[in-house]
Amino acid sequence: MRVLVIGSGGREHALLIGLSRDPSVTELHVAPGNAGTASIATNHAVDVVSADGVVALARQLDADLVVIGPEVPLVLGVADVLRDAGFATFGPGAQAAQIEGSKAFAKDVMAAAGVRTAHSEVVDNPAKLDAALDRFGPTWVVKDDGLAAGKGVVVTTDRAAARSHAAECLEIGHPVLLESFLDGPEVSLFCLVDGETVVPLIPAQDHKRVGDNDTGPNTGGMGAYTPLPWLPDEVTSQIVDDVVKPVAAELVRRGTPFSGLLYAGLAIGKDGPSVVEFNCRFGDPETQAVLALLKSPLGQALNATATGTLADLPPLEWEDGAAVIVVVAAENYPGKPRTGDAITGATGEGVLHAGTAVDASGAVVSSGGRVLGVLGVGADLAEARAQAYERIDAIKLPGSHHRTDIGKAALDGEISI
Ligand code: GLY
Repeated sequence: MRVLVIGSGGREHALLIGLSRDPSVTELHVAPGNAGTASIATNHAVDVVSADGVVALARQLDADLVVIGPEVPLVLGVADVLRDAGFATFGPGAQAAQIEGSKAFAKDVMAAAGVRTAHSEVVDNPAKLDAALDRFGPTWVVKDDGLAAGKGVVVTTDRAAARSHAAECLEIGHPVLLESFLDGPEVSLFCLVDGETVVPLIPAQDHKRVGDNDTGPNTGGMGAYTPLPWLPDEVTSQIVDDVVKPVAAELVRRGTPFSGLLYAGLAIGKDGPSVVEFNCRFGDPETQAVLALLKSPLGQALNATATGTLADLPPLEWEDGAAVIVVVAAENYPGKPRTGDAITGATGEGVLHAGTAVDASGAVVSSGGRVLGVLGVGADLAEARAQAYERIDAIKLPGSHHRTDIGKAALDGEISI
């Protein structure tokens, strides 16, 4: 099977590594990829949002399967164009991708499906902002109702900070979503979805704030671990049965079935799981940890989803133990990151590339905010953490920063539901 992966982040590097372990995958290509993906796949300089460019590349490679990693091409309908051109494609069409592309659409689907989520209001008129803010908070949750890769969400007890984020969104013409704050530890549950067939992967937990002990602004994700020692299996089953399956069924009912990876982000509160958000693709960086423990062939799972045969896939098998991924970020991330810094020591096993490129002199340099994801796998969370942080010690990137507490609260038994 010749597989083309679309995207350039740590998630895509992890997908490529998983695919490279599947004996049925004979060729691996990625567009555009990064400095790390070049060592296991052929990188192609194609813009991920150019449907024509992606289809032309898929034709040139005679791809058997195209896997779309990021949300932007999905929301823009690149999967629709690929399917119309006859390619088996992993990733939803534009309409189903609205589950991530429009928070208001997601709320509507959840209401129809009877899925518990935060109370919310959309504000699209600056004159109505203050009155709306008065109906929420503290704590305020302010979301940009557009694609913002996690950075469009501000969660704060400071009304002025909430107001300023909402006003910025409105100024650039994006409506904002105000939400009641959901208390409780967060879970990311990724599910392969083909119409009404839902196959969950193992649950993970992301660390969204930039600093240790969940301090500082939100980011796209600074690290993750899996599985979750504090989450009983029954709760995972409850999420599948009461959240993901009803949403998948509602999308089928609307005539826009979901095909690909449906990511449920939840808070586990006193009354059970509530949805914080849905995404229409694998999460980053949780995917890097989750796929590290997948024993079953990844290409076959993605291909079954893409070809509408997920119901026939044998049950997924997982390694025992734990995996931890720690993001190494560029100076000033999640603000405008400094790029172009030389990276050394980032070639070994378990170092996944995200914002990296090769410069004119052939050196590997930083090219984005989240530069690397460093993986640790072990018999338990303690071992996995130790391996990840040992590997980080060998990497040099001027000005970089990373959290030192990924998975630590779970390891210390500080998370309970
Ligand atoms: N880990 C957060 C995201 O992928 O959006």
